[in-house]
Amino acid sequence: MINLNAIPLDYEPRRKILPKLPAFVTAKGQREPEMSEFESAFLCGTLKQFRPKKILEVGVAGGATTAIILQALEDCGEPYEMHSIDVAENFYRDKTKPSGFMAAFAKEKIFDNLRGTHEFHLGKFLPQIIDDIGSDIDFVILDTLHSMPGEGLDFLAVLPYLKIGSVVVLHDVSLNQARAQNFNSHATTALFGAVTANKFLNFVPDNGNRPYAYPNIAAFQVTEQTVECIENVFLTMVLRWAYRPSDGEIKLYLNHYLRYYPPELCKIFAEAFKMNLYNMVIISNG
Ligand SMILES: C[S@@+](CC[C@H](N)C(=O)[O-])C[C@H]1O[C@@H](n2cnc3c(N)ncnc32)[C@H](O)[C@@H]1O
Repeated sequence: MINLNAIPLDYEPRRKILPKLPAFVTAKGQREPEMSEFESAFLCGTLKQFRPKKILEVGVAGGATTAIILQALEDCGEPYEMHSIDVAENFYRDKTKPSGFMAAFAKEKIFDNLRGTHEFHLGKFLPQIIDDIGSDIDFVILDTLHSMPGEGLDFLAVLPYLKIGSVVVLHDVSLNQARAQNFNSHATTALFGAVTANKFLNFVPDNGNRPYAYPNIAAFQVTEQTVECIENVFLTMVLRWAYRPSDGEIKLYLNHYLRYYPPELCKIFAEAFKMNLYNMVIISNG
């Protein structure tokens, strides 16, 4: 099922917290967060609508989005537990700063006393930390590499830890349309299309400047069918991969999947890796 324009957008948390965060801009003019105002408003609107208690963010970068999420959770006025994972210990756009430095600043200098708890898990892949975080997660934000296998790897890894009714927000669901060089950025597009779930899309409000309204952010709610039909997500793994995960990373994810999924689905994943490896080698050999 797809729900169009069903999330009431909430622009407030970003407007409140962003001016208080440290100014950051790269030589190329890149700013924090990596979401547009509309995308933050969709994310915060989803948080306000579903009022989760246990939140997991995968892909932190500078951490301005983490701070915006914390503000939205504070505005909800209820206790919560939030975890933010990034495989990089240092911010990929400025390695002199830790990943999440903006949210660390907000926690220390802006929020007096959080109503909930927040923990960073840096330098680790999701399967290395998820047992410590535990189950009953009811909200996930996936925003990592955008190209295959990308976010699909982490969704499959986290699904066994999600409550039925939990919500997954995907960033960059139309990034592959943004610029010619983004043609490979369809990992969340594939995941959003393949997953069986209760799906949410808000079209971008028309300000007269945009030739189309399809957004770059979306969400879905996990149902019993999400688990029953998970083979459709495994089957997206046979799309061509845009980067080569290390053997160690693949082993980590495959061993994790073997704990929760039937052997035939794990076999498809292993074959997808082998096929991609073979074809990447052929391509790189010209
Ligand atoms: C696009 S940025 C995140 C932007 C951030 N969510 C925002 O809105 O500003 C992607 C981040 O994901 C991290 N990353 C990439 N692959 C990852 C993985 N498998 N697990 C955790 N983090 C990952 C990168 O180190 C990078 O910091």
